[in-house]
Amino acid sequence: MDIENWKEEYLVGIESIDEQHKKLFARMDALTLALYKGQAVSEIEELVDFLDEYTVYHFNHEEDLMMKYRYPDMLKHIELHKKFKSILFSFKSEFNKRGPSHNLALRLEKEIIVWYKNHILIVDKKMSMYLNEKMP
Ligand SMILES: [Fe+2]
Repeated sequence: MDIENWKEEYLVGIESIDEQHKKLFARMDALTLALYKGQAVSEIEELVDFLDEYTVYHFNHEEDLMMKYRYPDMLKHIELHKKFKSILFSFKSEFNKRGPSHNLALRLEKEIIVWYKNHILIVDKKMSMYLNEKMP
């Protein structure tokens, strides 16, 4: 699978999390392309819904692990997830109100994908270092 925005350096060493991150990047790439190419609204809608639902699923997975292994920085991490969910909500609202656009593609690249990259490199890596020591 060739994911344009994905890099080896995003690996955090926890299989389930890495797989979910890869899947998110693959679909975000597909969505960016679909928006620039002006693909069918139904296809774009499916990708927007996926991004929204899978992000929640993925955050819940991380949060369950943090809770299970009593990660000391858990609350700060959850707060960041919460803030990002509101960015995603506003992205989705713009799509629902105005339909697909180049502006949405730009927001995806400049806000959402950039957020994920930074979050993985700093916040998820820190969490994973802790979890890797605690998990059997
Ligand atoms: Fe996270």
